[in-house]
Amino acid sequence: MSGHGEPIPMQARRGGPLSGVAEVPGDKSISHRSLILGAMAVGETRITGLLEGQDVLDTAAAMRSLGAEVTQHAPGEWSVHGVGVGGFGEPDRVIDCGNSGTGVRLIMGAVATCRITVTFTGDASLVKRPMARITDPLAQFGTAAYGRAGGRLPMTLVGATDPVPVRYTVPVPSAQVKSAVLLAGLNAPGQTVVIEAEATRDHTERMLAGFGAEIATEVTEAGRVITLTGQPELQPQEILVPRDPSSAAFPVCAALIVEGSDVLVPNIGLNPTRAGLFETLREMGADLTYENLRAAGGEPVADLRARFSPEMQGIEVPPERAASMIDEYPILSVVAANAQGRTVMRGVAELRVKESDRIAAMADGLRANGVTVEDGPDWWIVDGRGPGGVPGGGTALAHLDHRIAMSFLCLGMAAEKPVAVDDAGPIATSFPIFEPLMRDLGAQIVRQNR
Ligand code: S3P
Repeated sequence: MSGHGEPIPMQARRGGPLSGVAEVPGDKSISHRSLILGAMAVGETRITGLLEGQDVLDTAAAMRSLGAEVTQHAPGEWSVHGVGVGGFGEPDRVIDCGNSGTGVRLIMGAVATCRITVTFTGDASLVKRPMARITDPLAQFGTAAYGRAGGRLPMTLVGATDPVPVRYTVPVPSAQVKSAVLLAGLNAPGQTVVIEAEATRDHTERMLAGFGAEIATEVTEAGRVITLTGQPELQPQEILVPRDPSSAAFPVCAALIVEGSDVLVPNIGLNPTRAGLFETLREMGADLTYENLRAAGGEPVADLRARFSPEMQGIEVPPERAASMIDEYPILSVVAANAQGRTVMRGVAELRVKESDRIAAMADGLRANGVTVEDGPDWWIVDGRGPGGVPGGGTALAHLDHRIAMSFLCLGMAAEKPVAVDDAGPIATSFPIFEPLMRDLGAQIVRQNR
């Protein structure tokens, strides 16, 4: 769905402590993959706990237009009747992935080795994002791509007629690129090999194994070498989607910075390729504990308990941890602004090509609220003002980016004066219940008249 409705300005102000239980929605990465792999299996995959954010709904619509039967039975309960590897049919209209980089990039990979032609587009944020990182490796399979200048959407892919397997070293740390190559490799004969120097989220590998593909990961000096044997028959699965650690980050971090808070966030996926933020917060001195650590659906899961943490100190975040917390730097910078001392974040050039340029968006909005931020091409430094020390009183621009909008609303919950966000509409892409959930914990969030 391209674009969204009228902007929804919102404001958050300091109130009493946040307390209670925060039941955050299903994992976005796993939700996209459940629909796409379900559509490539033969038979019925059943999914429980699917995130019903707009990004995932757009992927569901895309799978339907490629020939899969995708049905919602109840909230979070979905089924997908797949068409098998190589079985996608040519859609009769443009596939619109809305705001979702993950959606469009994974689907491009999934169709790249089918004999069909597919045109993709997205919203004002997605059409600015780089796609050559996907179309370059897909060209090696024999897929042609015709997009706008700079490899931007809208873009038409002509699937390879006789795909060949590929050996590809991913040049930037990106699970989307890795996953696109693996999904394309599914319909190529022989072995497709992807090499990544830095470990990125591994849901695609775990789920492909779950669906019965032959896939192995070897850790070598060059990094992780992932080998997939093409043209398997994928077996339909029963999938229980864990709750999203990237969404859990918001109530967790809000609790750490709002005086007196104590919040429980149950059933959170703690795959090590995703849990870097929580490790970082603990190093800063956060009162954050894991309760009931267990395994569910092939992923480690725990209940997170976060309490107000006035002793937090800024740290230098290890750059090698960046991939495991890449979506969490915006909310980390909000915690950093409420800690003592400086927080230094390096090796994060990828933040500049997310739903927005997240370094610029956060730096501008933090400065507008009285926080000192320095930034360069792949780094930024936030000067902490101590607990409750952020002046606030400013308006931040969300730039069509859900995580920027949620981060500034959390900032406002702890700041001296309210913090406004020009448009909280994009929050619906990943965390549609953010506003009622935070309000139930006690947050003071209001929609503003325009
Ligand atoms: C995702 C990978 C990451 C992340 C995005 C989800 C995924 O992007 O930022 O929100 O599900 O594969 P990159 O692969 O571009 O780092």
